[in-house]
Amino acid sequence: MYRVLKREQIVPNIHLLVIETNNIHKNAKAGEFVVVRVDEEGERIPLNLVDWDEKSVSVIFMEVGTSTRKLGALKEGDVIETLAGPLGRPTEMIEDKSIICIGGCYGIGALYPVIRAFKQNRNRVITAVEGRSSFLLYWQKKLQEYSDELYEITRDGTKGYEGHINVFLEEYMKDHKVDLIYCQGCTYLTFFVSQITKSMGVKTIVGLNPIMIDATGMCGVCRVIINGETKFACVDGPEFDGHAVDWPNLLARRHTYHSQEQKSLSFYECERYG
Ligand code: FES
Repeated sequence: MYRVLKREQIVPNIHLLVIETNNIHKNAKAGEFVVVRVDEEGERIPLNLVDWDEKSVSVIFMEVGTSTRKLGALKEGDVIETLAGPLGRPTEMIEDKSIICIGGCYGIGALYPVIRAFKQNRNRVITAVEGRSSFLLYWQKKLQEYSDELYEITRDGTKGYEGHINVFLEEYMKDHKVDLIYCQGCTYLTFFVSQITKSMGVKTIVGLNPIMIDATGMCGVCRVIINGETKFACVDGPEFDGHAVDWPNLLARRHTYHSQEQKSLSFYECERYG
């Protein structure tokens, strides 16, 4: 059992969860994830590590189904059944380069350890956070700590650049040389960024964490075709070259378990509220 030190809704539907553990920090590296299970009946949920120290690890998650709804109801002092990790392959580090790091939704938090590691390796870090509106952006101050430049992009124009991430990328790339683009967020964002940067000819690494289900390497749901070869995001990733991903194949399977998730959630809500 693992004790919850903090659970806080940072923006609507997105929560920070800090869990007590004195082990994971010893091996934790940027880009890795942990698996949590809220209770005995809960499913395994792989979540990006967004921070860690000798007493705890922090993760950020979005409420989408029954288990994440239960996680979102936790209070300080509650316990969760399982915490396992760190898992996955860490972000491949480069040095002395110029890198644009893009994050949306839960991916904004996932950027934090990665930009910290990029900065510690003497890279120039340009961070761009994006969302539908300014109230969905968070952690700008924290991200600024390890960013040489920080940009905000909102589709409704309430802050920073107005529009989608392409508006920022096209504008920024006109006058700057960039060696790498790194992106964390929903599959639509990672797909979209990969399409834009392919035409710009800039290497792009994307986190495919959202396609994982149990992170056991056995269910096969996280399979992804990379340069014609089948890989598993939870074992071979979760980060891949965005230009090598077979996106039509991946996007076609995006909502495979959507109806089961919705059924489970309505059952849970009926039991909870009668
Ligand atoms: Fe099940 Fe990777 S998430 S095999």
